[in-house]
Amino acid sequence: MSPRDLGKVAVLMGGRSAERPVSLKSGSMVLAALKKKGVNAHAFDPKERGIDALARERFDRAFVILHGRYGEDGTIQGALELLGIPYTGSGVLASALAMDKWRTKLLWQACGIPTPRSELITRDTDMQAVTTRLGLPLMVKPANEGSSIGMTKVKSARELPEAHALAANYDRAVIAEAFVDGVELTAGILGNQPLPLIKLETPREFYDYQAKYEANDTRYIIPCGLPPDAERIVQDEALFAFETLGCRGWGRVDVMLDRSGKPYFLEVNTLPGMTDHSLVPMAARHAGLSFEDLCLRILELAQLEEGVDRVG
Ligand SMILES: Nc1ncnc2c1ncn2[C@@H]1O[C@H](COP(=O)(O)OP(=O)(O)OP(=O)(O)O)[C@@H](O)[C@H]1O
Ligand SMILES: [Mg+2]
Repeated sequence: MSPRDLGKVAVLMGGRSAERPVSLKSGSMVLAALKKKGVNAHAFDPKERGIDALARERFDRAFVILHGRYGEDGTIQGALELLGIPYTGSGVLASALAMDKWRTKLLWQACGIPTPRSELITRDTDMQAVTTRLGLPLMVKPANEGSSIGMTKVKSARELPEAHALAANYDRAVIAEAFVDGVELTAGILGNQPLPLIKLETPREFYDYQAKYEANDTRYIIPCGLPPDAERIVQDEALFAFETLGCRGWGRVDVMLDRSGKPYFLEVNTLPGMTDHSLVPMAARHAGLSFEDLCLRILELAQLEEGVDRVG
């Protein structure tokens, strides 16, 4: 498909979530890349203009690069469905599901996809009993958040109430999850193909907010160092974990390997970062795809949910 055949394209960026600044950064890079490729692309910030303007201004497609609430959670995807404008990435259900780590894990368990053992905890939970069941250390995290916000690695039952209280600031549902001690990997997905795995290393307790955005001692290792067969198995399982949630187009699956090399899937990001030093572009580059080509490919994969009767 020639870039001009993609029609008038809105790059949806900014938005109303706490991750607005990150989205503006990714969005401006995507916009520049698409323009460079000859796409008729325009910035569109749903915080500044009503989404119905997309139809009035006759946009043919939307490249969604919003993060967090009202961007990554199925709501904007629902609006685009109603407007009949094909959009990049996952649809309504998959976006909403992937945003919810607890329900993601329930579905994976039902499908035999390994994910660390976990429980929902409240203020009234018997914390001692939780540590007996799940062991120590534990990760405590809000069910719906990103960027490691509100997360604590807990080493004794005594620390659990405080960790719960921190996570509860971000979401009513709080997960206590068995800690997987081993190697951290992330699998970018493009279309129906997994990209090369990236290994993440940090001297910190885990890949926390500072390690993600501030520290300069976080290491991104690609190729990840696994033997090719082992890498392929994790990639295929990551793709299966992604598709089990109904995700499509592109995204990123986070996974931990324990000391024996067994993978445990943590979560799926349906709208990962897209600056030139973000993880999906890094993996794509390793697979021979430039940032511009990656953006174009994601855009070409834009679609509407199948089999939905549309309004108008
Ligand atoms: N069960 C676990 N065992 C070991 N480490 C974990 C576990 N859960 C989370 N972590 C660590 O915490 C980090 C963030 O966890 P997770 O990916 O679940 O949350 P997130 O904040 O939604 O991430 P993102 O920024 O990718 O959206 C992981 O990258 C990993 O380093
Ligand atoms: Mg993650």
